[in-house]
Amino acid sequence: MLSYQHAYHAGGPADVHKHVLLLRVLAYLARKSKPFVAIDVHAGEGAYALARPEAEKTAEFRRGIARLWAAPAKAEALAPYLDVVRAANPHGALSVYPGSPAFMRAGLRDHDRLILNELHPAAVAVLRRWAGSDPRIAVHKRDADEAIRALLPPEIRRGVVLIDPSYEMRGSYEATAAAVADSVAKWPEGIFVVWFPHLADRRHVPLVDGLKTIDAPMVMSDLDLDSGGLADAPDKGLRGSGVIVINPPWQFAEEADLLGKELARQLGEGPRAKHTLTWLRPER
Ligand SMILES: C[S@@+](CC[C@H](N)C(=O)[O-])C[C@H]1O[C@@H](n2cnc3c(N)ncnc32)[C@H](O)[C@@H]1O
Repeated sequence: MLSYQHAYHAGGPADVHKHVLLLRVLAYLARKSKPFVAIDVHAGEGAYALARPEAEKTAEFRRGIARLWAAPAKAEALAPYLDVVRAANPHGALSVYPGSPAFMRAGLRDHDRLILNELHPAAVAVLRRWAGSDPRIAVHKRDADEAIRALLPPEIRRGVVLIDPSYEMRGSYEATAAAVADSVAKWPEGIFVVWFPHLADRRHVPLVDGLKTIDAPMVMSDLDLDSGGLADAPDKGLRGSGVIVINPPWQFAEEADLLGKELARQLGEGPRAKHTLTWLRPER
């Protein structure tokens, strides 16, 4: 079943949270001269026009990127993230939201590599056009759980994998935890960034519990927007967004907490909006 379309959610608060933290991980990887590889197994389209009907319908981007875009000076810590969004909008008005492949590409140097995977036929066609002929980028069309197992360990041994499923199927949370566990076993030194929706009915808990069984340092950034369900979102139980990072870079946790608190202040919907940083498995 491939009914999920990310265009409805592009630039929403969950995307902002995920992309801000992803960019921090990439900045850390680029600090050393050695090459790195960034792998995105649920890549989506690469970039999203915000004027298209899907984005306008839910208007999630108005609760996310549009708020930060309107007051950039209020969020200095988010400047590197906003720079990438600005680069996607060279004419000054916010009309395009960059997807995770664009945030990854923004962090690449000539000797780094970007591996993208997407299963939806229409999305992968758009993604291939977005990637163009950049020799650093490879695009695959496979099931993500199969791709992640097949692509790891990568030839370049430093890097990050983003796992950003649409969680559409029964058992998706458990299956994602199992795929990540297998992947960490194949590439124990890789950094894994796993996004999940923070749901009022706690459906995401089996994912968190499953990941916790992996023997690696692991930190969770939990952005509770107290949104009471984004009004027009297909999933009205969405309170916020979660990101788990396995093998987080040094000092990432402290930075993630500051960034998360800033996002809770800027994007919170209710009085109980907050950010919580939890080590699920301690640092070694
Ligand atoms: C949350 S969206 C990804 C958004 C993207 N990572 C970003 O941040 O811009 C999830 C994507 O996974 C794709 N997808 C769904 N099931 C998949 C599967 N089994 N294998 C690979 N991709 C899948 C969907 O088509 C969708 O584009």
